[in-house]
Amino acid sequence: MTRDQPVLALSDSDVRLVRDSFEHVSMDLVPLAADFYEILFRKNAELRALFADDLGPQVAKLAHTLSFAVAQLEQRETLHRDLVTLGALHQEKGVETAHYDAVADALVAALARSLGAGWEPRIELAWRKLLKAVGASMLLGAQEAGPG
Ligand code: HEM
Repeated sequence: MTRDQPVLALSDSDVRLVRDSFEHVSMDLVPLAADFYEILFRKNAELRALFADDLGPQVAKLAHTLSFAVAQLEQRETLHRDLVTLGALHQEKGVETAHYDAVADALVAALARSLGAGWEPRIELAWRKLLKAVGASMLLGAQEAGPG
């Protein structure tokens, strides 16, 4: 795997499931992001210290990045390169490999809560594939950046 090689390997049907579900929650991204942090820190209290006291700007940034990633799903090479860069920044903030699973679990839980009865196992699987791929691209950037 290299910096330029896309690792996002979602099928067309996964892309559709992610997009359709995201469309339902996208009017309400700030509450979704707030829910996400509430779940993340409830289950992983040690992660709170990595973030600034005021989560406000972070909530907006996460909402923005999610919209961007979902919109860019067809531009996989560009998305991959942006995520590699974002991963290097995360390495500098002290984010570790295991944290990506904690983040994926919290985001899936927040999405499920937001979609309510519309949430289905195949939607969860498609999101998990996306988040795995996003994490893989970001971890590649983290590796390149090297330890601390
Ligand atoms: C799905 C993967 C992720 C995405 C899309 C994402 C997105 C972002 C974005 C867009 C920023 C703002 C960067 C900037 O300031 O320019 C950020 C910052 C940050 N992220 Fe992530 N992130 C992800 C995974 C993680 C993980 C696994 C952790 C570990 C807990 C984490 C912790 C942080 C921290 C600590 C900051 C800095 C916040 C601050 O300065 O207060 N992120 N993230």
